[in-house]
Amino acid sequence: MSLDHLLSVSDFEQAAKKVLPRCVYGYVRGGTEDEQSLRANRLTFEDIGFLPRGLNIVDKRELSTELWGHKYSMPLGIAPTGLAGLVRHDCDLELARAAKQANVPFVISGSSSVPLEKLQLETTDNWYQAYFPGDRVRISRIIERLNAAKIQVLVVTIDTCVAANRENNARVDFTIPFRMTPRLLLDGILHPRWTLGVFLKTLYASGIPRFANLYEEIGPPITEEPAHGFRTGRDRLSWDDMIWLREQWKGRLVLKGIMHPHDASRAEKLGADGIIVSNHGGRQLDGTIAPLAALPAIIEAVSEAFPVMIDGGFRRGTDVLKAIAFGARLVFVGRATLYGAAVGGEAGVGRVLSILAAELDRDMALLGCAQLFEVTKALLRTRSVIAL
Ligand code: FNR
Repeated sequence: MSLDHLLSVSDFEQAAKKVLPRCVYGYVRGGTEDEQSLRANRLTFEDIGFLPRGLNIVDKRELSTELWGHKYSMPLGIAPTGLAGLVRHDCDLELARAAKQANVPFVISGSSSVPLEKLQLETTDNWYQAYFPGDRVRISRIIERLNAAKIQVLVVTIDTCVAANRENNARVDFTIPFRMTPRLLLDGILHPRWTLGVFLKTLYASGIPRFANLYEEIGPPITEEPAHGFRTGRDRLSWDDMIWLREQWKGRLVLKGIMHPHDASRAEKLGADGIIVSNHGGRQLDGTIAPLAALPAIIEAVSEAFPVMIDGGFRRGTDVLKAIAFGARLVFVGRATLYGAAVGGEAGVGRVLSILAAELDRDMALLGCAQLFEVTKALLRTRSVIAL
């Protein structure tokens, strides 16, 4: 399939749906329980509209943005996505390479299918997302490994204290790690390209797709996610641990999964270098508001220089600009680039990133802005309010 015919992230999602077995597409697309959080993430963009300005000179548009001394080509990055190896063989590597090529940050997932040391070689700025167990001895061992791998930005995900209720996965027999069932076998037969090019290739190279990081540090592999809590004791991880972590970890520290303004302020006070406002793409607690809706109060709660990043439902340049207008420094996408990988590997991810870059550039001009700092709340309105 020619990638040029895919014009939007939504086109990539439709194409990925055809390529991937039902269970893998469902794993990527899905949320939890009734998928209220997942839907809110998209719907909230429609609650806010732009008031564009005309006749501004916008011929010299600048999308690049700086964070901690690193200049990125646009305010967009790739969020950590675990078990990407199910979407495509060595998908994590392809995501990392496409991000490097586009000069945007890529966050290595704590549940990546490729070991972090191998992935780190493909990135320039070395962001790594950790799922920390609830005990400091094991965290210390992970930190040693991250230091040895020269990780610079440590992103600690805080919204995953217990396993989420992913009924959609259970309904199609999808388990982590992957376990073959008759239903999945049929799914595989119906998607031969995936079965030969992804599943069997991975099986041959490294066995059943699985988590490649942190087993040695956190104890025996989790062979099955228990209904309540993780065997790693993540439900004991606390703010005190984060204060302790701040003393231990000398690199940049980012907390991901912040939704409440008090937590945002707490993160800043304990010395974190930034936060990612996120509801895990609607994959943890169901019934949250969208990160975009949580953003304004969070921006109010922290100081102006504190980097607030965001993810959740971003599919268009206009979505990104709405978050920038509220004060976000960077926006991450998770599913969008996985769909790119599913359809076209590294080139597919690159095409998704270039579509988003082109949309951002065009939309900034149409909004009347040449620089990102000109994109402010003054250009937004709640869509449904009509003042008479
Ligand atoms: C995720 N996400 C995630 N987050 C994280 O901190 N560690 C992880 O390993 C994963 N794994 C993961 C797998 C898959 C398949 C998806 C779709 C998501 C959440 C991710 O980082 C991000 O918060 C959301 O994906 C953002 O929402 P969108 O862009 O997917 O709508």
